[in-house]
Amino acid sequence: MKRRDCGTTTKGSGRREFLLRGLASSALAWRYLAIPADLLFAKNTFRQAAQSNTPSQSAKELITSNVDFFVRNHFSAPKISDEEWRLEIGGLISKPLKLSYSDLLLMPSVRRVSTLECAGNATGGAGVGTADWSGLPLGELLQRAGLKPGATTIVFHGADSGEGENVPPGTHFARAIPLEKAMEPATLLAYEMNGEPLPAEHGFPVRALVPGWYGMDSVKWLTRIEILDQPFKGYFQEEKYVASGAHGVSRPLTLIKVNAKFLRPSEGEEIRGKTYRVEGVAWAGERKIARVEVRVGGGAWQAASLAAAPAALIWTPWSYEWQVPSSGRYALEVRATDEDGRTQPEVRDPDRKDPYELNTPHNVNVVVP
Ligand code: MTE
Repeated sequence: MKRRDCGTTTKGSGRREFLLRGLASSALAWRYLAIPADLLFAKNTFRQAAQSNTPSQSAKELITSNVDFFVRNHFSAPKISDEEWRLEIGGLISKPLKLSYSDLLLMPSVRRVSTLECAGNATGGAGVGTADWSGLPLGELLQRAGLKPGATTIVFHGADSGEGENVPPGTHFARAIPLEKAMEPATLLAYEMNGEPLPAEHGFPVRALVPGWYGMDSVKWLTRIEILDQPFKGYFQEEKYVASGAHGVSRPLTLIKVNAKFLRPSEGEEIRGKTYRVEGVAWAGERKIARVEVRVGGGAWQAASLAAAPAALIWTPWSYEWQVPSSGRYALEVRATDEDGRTQPEVRDPDRKDPYELNTPHNVNVVVP
């Protein structure tokens, strides 16, 4: 289900280039240039690529580089010209808006590190990553547009459409979130990823970013935001991304569940030396990680060390100093518990019929020669 697409990145400090190109002679350019330099030249925010299985140096936050960040697209990525692109905001608002890319770039922006996980990410899979995102808090824009009484649902429409995966012809990608989630300060209209303009496959020019909720709500290539007073009935809302259990009971997917994975060792690795530093990341959506444990060969769970004070919405790096036993084959497992005391389940609920929220413990098998 995961697709690791091309990984093209757009280089350069795009916001600055775009504005200088379009607004060089206007007063707006000078206003923009007054923005602190760290917002303009944000390329050195890269820390370690989290998917590489090498030990971390400063493990405060592990940022996934743009080229290593997973890509999950239902259709081909649309090619959008930043000059022609417009974002329409309509529905239950008093001032419908039509914004250009430069309109958005000129509004006060924020930067936030947050973790994105695909609802269909396999246990230990690469469908999770953490980036440093820049953009506008969606709630501020909605307030500006004047929400009308009765507004409950914010629908994000993407520019991509097509067929395949049994999708009805002509369907475009669209998802909705409740107004309360849209108004949270961490919910963004993001246009930069790790200090670069959003790469094409991650939603250039602008995407929604809904931290703490599975990735399907972080709609890419945004073209329209619609405010409704009733639930949204799109294909990707009702037919996909639904948890289905026993007796036909279903519920929408929202919050990312507690989860953890190894970054090292990797499957089949040969372990040499008397001790080995096992490393990984753990995350729990809107909750903080409380505990990470590792066990070897089905033995007792042992506490791992958290590398940083856990924060909501961002994964927490962890490590475990393994006293390597005598030669043999060993299965290593990791599990995390969130601040509400929810621990990853040992086995998947047998009633589940859908392929989402896979959070049983990750395991790797290693060899001590
Ligand atoms: N937005 C659009 N327009 N089209 C898509 O197919 N896929 C969603 C979401 N936003 C998707 C989309 C899913 S399922 C996930 S997990 C995330 O984008 C993945 O974001 P990424 O590809 O930037 O990692």
